[in-house]
This record gives sequence, C-alpha cells and structure tokens, in this order.
Amino acid sequence: MSNPIAEQINSALLEAESKLAAATCDADVEEVRIHILGRKGLLASLSGSMGALSADERKEAGIAFNTGRSRCKELVDAALLRIKSAAKTGDRAQFDLTLPGRRQPVGRKHPVVTVIDDAVAVFRRLGFIVADGPEIEDVFHNFDALNTPAAHPSRDPGDTFYFSDGRLLRTQTSPVQIRTMENHEPPVRIVAPGRCFRRDTPDATHSMNFHQIEGLLIDRGVSLADLKSVLQMFAIEMFGQGVKIRLRPHFFPFTEPSVEYDFSCIMCNGSGCSVCKHSGWLEIAGAGVVDPNVLKNVGYDPEIWTGYAFGLGIERIAMLRYRINDIRLLYENDVRFLEQF
Ligand code: PHE
Repeated sequence: MSNPIAEQINSALLEAESKLAAATCDADVEEVRIHILGRKGLLASLSGSMGALSADERKEAGIAFNTGRSRCKELVDAALLRIKSAAKTGDRAQFDLTLPGRRQPVGRKHPVVTVIDDAVAVFRRLGFIVADGPEIEDVFHNFDALNTPAAHPSRDPGDTFYFSDGRLLRTQTSPVQIRTMENHEPPVRIVAPGRCFRRDTPDATHSMNFHQIEGLLIDRGVSLADLKSVLQMFAIEMFGQGVKIRLRPHFFPFTEPSVEYDFSCIMCNGSGCSVCKHSGWLEIAGAGVVDPNVLKNVGYDPEIWTGYAFGLGIERIAMLRYRINDIRLLYENDVRFLEQF
C-alpha cells in the first residue's frame, strides 16, 4: 500500500491493538481511544492533510479512515469488556491496584451496653447469675407483688405507660425479682439488666426509656451489712480503689429498710463540683433489705429467708464513666458521638 495516510492509520491500529491487549484498567483503554479517535487524535489530525492528496489517493485514504475508525472502536469495546469481566471473576492482575481502598466502618458497643456488660461481669464474679423478664409487664408483677400500695403515685398513668388491656411498660427491673422467686426455690442470687420506661419529660438527666440492673440475693441471715459490702465492691470494681460509697435512708415499698446508694463524686473526688451539685456525692441506685411482705407474696417463708435487692441506674453510671453531660446523647444514634467509645 503506497498511500501514506492509509499506512499511518494501519500502523497506528497495530500499535493500539497491542496496547489494548495489555490494558489493565479503563483508564488505559481511554488513553488509547483518545490518542486515535479523540478530537485532537491521530484520525482528526490526519484528516487535515487530505487536501494534499490526489482524487484516487483521497478515496483510498477515506476508506482507510472509515475502516480504521470502526476497527478502533471494536478494539476499545472488546478491551473494556475484557477488563470488566476479569474484575468480576476476581482476576487480581486485572484490578487497578492504584485505586484508593474503601474503608469499612467498624461497629462498636454502645456505652450503655458496655456498662451493662462490665457491671454484670462484676456480679458474676460474686456468684450472681443473670435473669430476665418481659418489658411489657402486668400490674401484679410491677406493683402489687412488690408491696406497692394501691394509691402509690408511681402507679399513676401520668407516670407509667399503660396499654388498653391494663398491662404496662415496666417502670423498673424489680418485677424480675418476683418472676425469679415465683419460679425458683431459695436461695436466689441474680442480676437482671434491662430496659425500663417512665412517663418523664426528657431532659439532660431524664429519659422515658432507660436501663437498670436489678440485683436480688435471698438466703438465710442476710443483712444490710451484706448489701453494703456488695455495693462497696461494685463501686471499687467500676471506678477504682479511691471511690467511697454511702447509704442514705430512703423509702421503697418492697424493701425495709430502704436506702439510696451514692458514690463519692468521681469528677471532683468528693470535694464538690457542678456534676455532684457541690455535694461530693452521686446517686447511683436504690436498694434495701427485702420486705417480708414481698417474700410472702411469692410463697417464701420470711421467718426462714431474708435478702437484699438493688436497682442500679445504668445511664447514670455510663454518664459518669464517659463524662457524658446529657442522657439524650445516648439515644440519638449519632455516629460521631458513638464512634468515641
Ligand atoms: N426499683 C427501684 C427504682 O426503680 C430501685 C430499687 C430496686 C430499690 C431494688 C430497692 C431495691 O427506683
């Protein structure tokens, strides 16, 4: 073939063919395509020199242009297809190893779950086993069996979520005490972590849905001193040797005597700060010696069996441990918040 333009096109096609055969990614193919078919590519620039040819040569060159263009398109399409199917079948050699990797987000435990797990682990070491109960409760287990008087304010529909059939969302994990004792002979030694619900107006320290860990120990000759020692141990396990505890007299229908259980403020070491409202102490739980009426309600003989119970506020502990100043942050599921734990 003596036509210089046709010759150039053919040799460019040969070169393109070998480059496309070696191409490993779309970008390699695109480079070849632009070089030949692009707006400033080989074909475009050669077409500018057609004017210098004779009529016959021009005809010959025209044919070379047309076949060159369509052949080049075929080669490009074939190369793209080959790369795509190689990627699908996992032929590593065909991957573009220069592309940045895709980071897989790693999930982690919610701080509330971490605190529950850690607290439960402490009680397991002390011989407690984990018990469970329903979040939808009946009035008997949530109130009556727990010796709660008929007129007690906590029963009010302004404080408790009731269903139309009279059942309710449990306001505390204490009904698990009743369910456990109904189904097991004494002695009993359980902890029961779980969700509770109260009709509270949400603010920095209140949520309508929060978590408690209930503890119940029933045995012979159990006293308030036993309760105090287990709460002391729990405080040290969770917050270290420096933490002190105190029990303040309180009232719960199902314990007698009843106490509130405070930690010395872990922010200021008891010297007084805004977190502990300058008292030096933080309220963590309600607790007490199990009321004989509760034992009677489940058929235990209060002349033989004694016990203590406690209900720890999980969110409270989580907020102290992680220095979280608003309980609502725990429930917004904002990944920027959750990633910090
Ligand atoms: N159930 C009580 C509350 O939610 C806490 C508590 C549990 C008190 C066990 C005494 C014994 O406030």
